[in-house]
Amino acid sequence: MSSRRDINILQIDFDTNPETASTLPSTTYYDHHWFELEKRHIFRQSWRCVGHVNDIPDDGDYLTVSIVDHPVFVLRCEDGSIRAFHNVCKHRAHPLFTESRGRLKSKLITCPYHAWAYDRSGLLHSAPHCESIRGFDKSAIQLDALKVESIMGFIFVNHNLDADPLAPQISPGVERLTRRLPDLENFHLAESVTFDIAANWKNVGDNLLECYHCQPAHRAFVDLVDMDTYSVEASGIWSWQGGICRTENSAYNLPAGLTESEREFVTFYVWPDVAFILFPGSRAIASFVFGATATESTHQVFSVYTPDGELDQTSREIYRYFSEVLGPEDVALVENVQKGLHSTSYHRGRFFVDPARSYYSEHAVHQLHGLVFDHLRNFIPGS
Ligand code: FES
Ligand SMILES: [Fe+2]
Repeated sequence: MSSRRDINILQIDFDTNPETASTLPSTTYYDHHWFELEKRHIFRQSWRCVGHVNDIPDDGDYLTVSIVDHPVFVLRCEDGSIRAFHNVCKHRAHPLFTESRGRLKSKLITCPYHAWAYDRSGLLHSAPHCESIRGFDKSAIQLDALKVESIMGFIFVNHNLDADPLAPQISPGVERLTRRLPDLENFHLAESVTFDIAANWKNVGDNLLECYHCQPAHRAFVDLVDMDTYSVEASGIWSWQGGICRTENSAYNLPAGLTESEREFVTFYVWPDVAFILFPGSRAIASFVFGATATESTHQVFSVYTPDGELDQTSREIYRYFSEVLGPEDVALVENVQKGLHSTSYHRGRFFVDPARSYYSEHAVHQLHGLVFDHLRNFIPGS
């Protein structure tokens, strides 16, 4: 007889109609085999936002991130270009950079373990004593590169060098966002807060992508945003949700005299694990990356960017609200859900999607599940 896990994985299906569909099975939120498939077919194939061009403004500046279990680094080069490589030395796999960010002290990238040195195109330049090693062909050794794209000033990387460019896939959302903030590539990091969450990355994404839970779980948020104006739109690999904020509310007050568009709260999601959040009443944007680190753990990074790298009074209030109130409220919700997903009494839940796509409609969550299923459907054992 099959175990419950076997049944879920071997017999998985997915209804593409959001109005009649149910979620992916709960097993997909904690099964290690399923997560291995996601690592291979989602995270090594998709675009990940790793920072902003002004995080590495000058020649030799670098930053490091891990995409699940793959450490990578992004480097500003002499010609102004940005390159990305696996942060793994070709000798014995030590990371080339061990800090989260910094600046190269020379033209070369030198491994701290045995001092193999690479140039900025990734070619091995020198290895101590290599001339006495039989058959050692320095020219055959090169760091593995990642594909890089910069959109609205944000840097995206992709393990798959043949991946389709990201910009055309999300251009409607980018156009809308840049209409509000046309000079995002000139913004600078002002604040950042991280949460290590005991939950699968999809669980964090599910919670981000619907506001059905806002009324019961975020009392101040529904006072801030007029839910009658809230809408959710999902298309391709992106979604857009938001509404108009009230000037006076219990979350934080906005300056008087703002236009409706300046009071718009927006979350622009880009598959698989980033969203950009517009701060109403302020020239500030946050990137919200919810990177899987293991089957049931997610590293969430919420970073706010402003024109001068400073928070004004309104954006400081918003940042406080997100980092101290809304963020912790959501972390508690998804960690509680993660526990519930293990219960034998839960298998999959019905999406709440109404024909009018009201503020509470969960069609953007259905989109996320559909994208996961599409990326894995040909690799599910038994399919
Ligand atoms: S591991 Fe990098 S030089 Fe040995
Ligand atoms: Fe929430």
